[in-house]
Amino acid sequence: MMSTDLYCVMGNPVEHSKSPWIHARFAQLAGQDLRYEKRLVALGGFVPAVQAFRAEGGKGCNVTVPFKFDAARLATRLTPRAELAQACNTLRFDGAEVIGDNTDGIGLVGDITRNAGVQLAGRDVLLIGAGGAAAGVLGPLVQAMPRRVVVANRTQAKAASLILRHSSLARAEGVELAAPPLKEVTAGFDVVINATATSMSGAAVPVPFAVLKPGALACDLMYGPAASGFMEWARSHGAVARDGLGMLVEQAAESFLLWRGVRPPSAQVLAELRANLG
Ligand code: ATR
Repeated sequence: MMSTDLYCVMGNPVEHSKSPWIHARFAQLAGQDLRYEKRLVALGGFVPAVQAFRAEGGKGCNVTVPFKFDAARLATRLTPRAELAQACNTLRFDGAEVIGDNTDGIGLVGDITRNAGVQLAGRDVLLIGAGGAAAGVLGPLVQAMPRRVVVANRTQAKAASLILRHSSLARAEGVELAAPPLKEVTAGFDVVINATATSMSGAAVPVPFAVLKPGALACDLMYGPAASGFMEWARSHGAVARDGLGMLVEQAAESFLLWRGVRPPSAQVLAELRANLG
C-alpha cells in the first residue's frame, strides 16, 4: 500500500501560517493523499531541519521568512524564476536532488489576472520595494508582458541592481524596465504593487498618490493588518485595493502543482479562506 506523502512549511515564525489549511483543502478537493505540517525552524537551523525532514520521508516543503535565501543556497538545482529571485519558497526532493523553485511571482500574476480579472499585458506597472519580496515577484511580472515595470525603492541602488539582474529577460519579453529615483516616480500606473514593509511599520507609502491612474489596481503582498495601511491609502485615492491573500493561495497552488502534477481549484479555496477569515 502507498503511504501518505509528507510536506511542510518551514519558517520562523510559522505558528499563524495558513499553508497547512490551504494544502489540506487542495488535497481534499484534488483527491490527493498527502499530509502537510508546519515546522518551526530555529534561526540558523535551516539546513539540519531540511535534512531531518528528508530523513522522515518528506517529499517537499514550502519555505517562508527568513529562510528563502537559505533554501536557494541549499537547492541543487534552481528553476529560472528561482535563480532570478535568488530565493526559494518551494523545495521538491527528487532522489539526491533538491529542486528549488519560487512560486510567489507566478502566484501574484495569477491572482491579478485570474482572480482580480485585471490584465497585465501592455499595462504600466509600479513595483514599490526592492527587497526579498520584490525580488520574488519581478521575473514573473516581466513575463506577463506589461508595457513597462518601474521599480521604486527608498534605496535606489537596490532597485537598480534588481532590474539589472532582470534586464535580459525584460529585453527578451520587450518590456521596459526602469529604477528611477523615488522623486521621479510621479504618475500614470495601471497596477501598483506594494512589496515594502511600510504597512507593517505604519510608515507612509513612499510614492505620491498620483502614481495611481483612476481605477488602478493596488496590491499589497501582505494581508490582514500588515496590508491595511497601503490598502486604505489606495482606496482613499480612487484605486481598487487588493490584499495578498489571493497571492498566498495561488503561490500555494503552484507549489502543489510542482509536487503533485495536479492544479488544485485555487479560486474556490481562496473564496473559502476569505469566508473563514470573516
Ligand atoms: P522583504 O523580504 O519583506 O522584502 P526586506 O528585504 O528587508 O524585506 O525589504 C524591505 C523593503 O521595504 C525594502 O524595499 C525597503 O526599502 P530599503 O531597500 O530602502 O530598505 C522597504 N522599506 C522598509 N521600510 C520602509 C520605509 N519606512 N519607507 C520606505 N521603504 C521601506
